[in-house]
Amino acid sequence: MGEGRGALSDHDAARERAGHLRALIRHHNYRYYVLDDPEIPDAEYDRLVAELRVLEARHPELVTPDSPTQRVGAAPVAAFSQVRHRVPMISLDNAMSDHDLAEFHRRIVAALPNRDPIVYTGEPKLDGLAVSVRYEAGVLVQAATRGDGSTGEDVTSNARTIHSVPLHLIGDDWPAVLEVRGEVYMTQRGFEHLNEAARHRGERTFANPRNAAAGSLRQLDPRVTAARPLRFCCYGWGEISTAPGDSQYRMLRRLAGWGIPISKELRRVNGLAGCRDYFEELGRRRDSLEYDIDGVVFKVDQIADQASLGATSHHPRWAIARKFPAQEELTVVESVGFQVGRTGAVTPVARLKPVQVGGVTVANATLHNMDEVKRKDVRIGDTVSIRRAGDVIPEVVGVLLERRPPDARPVELPSHCPVCGSDVIRPPGEAVARCTGGLYCPAQRKQAIRHFASRRAMDIEGLGDKLVEQLVDLGLVREPADLYRLTAEQLAGLERMGEKSAANLIAALERSKSTTFARFIYALGIRGVGETTARALAEEFAGIPDLEQAREPERFQERGVEGVGPVIAAQIAGFFAQAHNREAIGRLLGAGIQWPGPSAPTLAREDRPLAGKTFVITGILSRPREEIATWLQELGARVTSGISKKTDYLLAGEAAGSKLEKAQSLGIPTLDEKGLRTLLDRP
Ligand code: IVH
Repeated sequence: MGEGRGALSDHDAARERAGHLRALIRHHNYRYYVLDDPEIPDAEYDRLVAELRVLEARHPELVTPDSPTQRVGAAPVAAFSQVRHRVPMISLDNAMSDHDLAEFHRRIVAALPNRDPIVYTGEPKLDGLAVSVRYEAGVLVQAATRGDGSTGEDVTSNARTIHSVPLHLIGDDWPAVLEVRGEVYMTQRGFEHLNEAARHRGERTFANPRNAAAGSLRQLDPRVTAARPLRFCCYGWGEISTAPGDSQYRMLRRLAGWGIPISKELRRVNGLAGCRDYFEELGRRRDSLEYDIDGVVFKVDQIADQASLGATSHHPRWAIARKFPAQEELTVVESVGFQVGRTGAVTPVARLKPVQVGGVTVANATLHNMDEVKRKDVRIGDTVSIRRAGDVIPEVVGVLLERRPPDARPVELPSHCPVCGSDVIRPPGEAVARCTGGLYCPAQRKQAIRHFASRRAMDIEGLGDKLVEQLVDLGLVREPADLYRLTAEQLAGLERMGEKSAANLIAALERSKSTTFARFIYALGIRGVGETTARALAEEFAGIPDLEQAREPERFQERGVEGVGPVIAAQIAGFFAQAHNREAIGRLLGAGIQWPGPSAPTLAREDRPLAGKTFVITGILSRPREEIATWLQELGARVTSGISKKTDYLLAGEAAGSKLEKAQSLGIPTLDEKGLRTLLDRP
């Protein structure tokens, strides 16, 4: 085969494959964004896109602007250019009450006397910003904001980054020119994540999902927009070369068929009664929707009727927005309290003059952290706007500075935990202040005990979350040491606990007492001290007394522990500075928790009790084999997988097979777990 022909057929094959991949990706986008029913896992979808990228990188001449790989990539602009809407983007009339809705219906009935009943479509009024997206020959060519209704801004490069906006329609029966109109919005969750990240970086947050969506779409750099969790939902159309249906409902269904997402809540309802039912129904579900809605939109379904009803210069006469109560209201901050979360985070909470927000009375709203209080400059006595949406905790979004009374007082972080009295510290550079009473503070109790018992900490088998919940709620356990005082009788009396499982748990508690220093440190749940840091601390410090003495952050840093910078040093020192915590540790050690040779892990490798010994592990043991291996390695041993003459010991659990036989035939000593402990006691 000649080179030329080879290259040509390679090119043809690549083009075919690229076309096939694009069609597949479009289909899966449709399943995901329109039907909300993906056929393949995300990883598989990502694989298709990755394959297409590789193919396009190898054959740049095959890249098309509507390829799903081409969503981001346009250069930043200095300003948006203007787009004139060929069909104006008018607004909606509002119905604030049931009376207003009845009036609207009455006008429709009067104008369409022989329709009985009037059929309407109902759908949520999404709270985002209106955008018009233009397709020519099935390909996205332009996207524009509403602007003043006749002229908007060209946001094509940004709209292309929104994954639910198709770059190319699916099927082949779409009109040559099709302008779809809908809302670009953000889900509650997307909004929360975005603000959380901004708070983390110490940046300004958005007041609500609508502002976040508008701010994100109107970015001059499309890469910024691409990183924002925007979505698109179509509710109508503008210019269209041939209308594919005679009713609002059927038109929207056709658009969906071409890959354009429409509301999952779109319904056809009959007459005023149907509208009322739909409004009530959606109102009940408002808080459980993923996105903010500020009302319900009703539209006369028949397009011919819409045409005969016409429009004013502001809004169509055939549609109305029946509004829900607002999700933002004004009220006064009467005081600021501090709440302690299960991880010890001390959160400022505004105590408010009670106010109705979205149909619910709100008396408290979160201020997130002290940085936010400062950034928003919230003071006691201020008039603030409060937002409550979905099941998200109400929050203070901003202050009306012009209403600040002269005696408004600044908010101060308390020096002691309002729950347990331990010191509150705010490590340098951290936004969140924390209670240092980790082992002792009632607010952190369940979390502390759950962590203490977890597999990588003390590994108390059978002590799950539900059980911790019960033990703490019944007052049987207040701190980790209480676990070791539990009796089988106490346990057997609990929900879903038989005598057998009670006995098992007692045995597991007993087993957990033999641990390593590193695990014990990790189990204390000191903020910022994960397994790796715990191991590093166990290497550096000779034991608990040594650790407890390094109570100032500087002392920690002097010891130069790997992975411990100023923030973690402050947390560790803060933890050990609390007498409550030191006492709780004392009670744990008193309960019999121990690790081989109190200072064993701090010994140089060659001085460790099992230094120079080679172990092989086999059979079923009390813990996973890899954990036992780590433990042996911490004690200085080498752990290998096969028996040889160099093996010093075989650690054999139950049902040991061929390795046991081989060890025996080579005369290599075999130990069970008990034997290993005996060996460690007498090194
Ligand atoms: S229809 C000619 N339907 O509300 C009809 N608008 O207050 C024009 N909106 O600018 C709009 N959800 O941004 C329509 N299901 C929906 C909507 C909706 C949200 C927004 C849209 C519009 C504004 C009017």
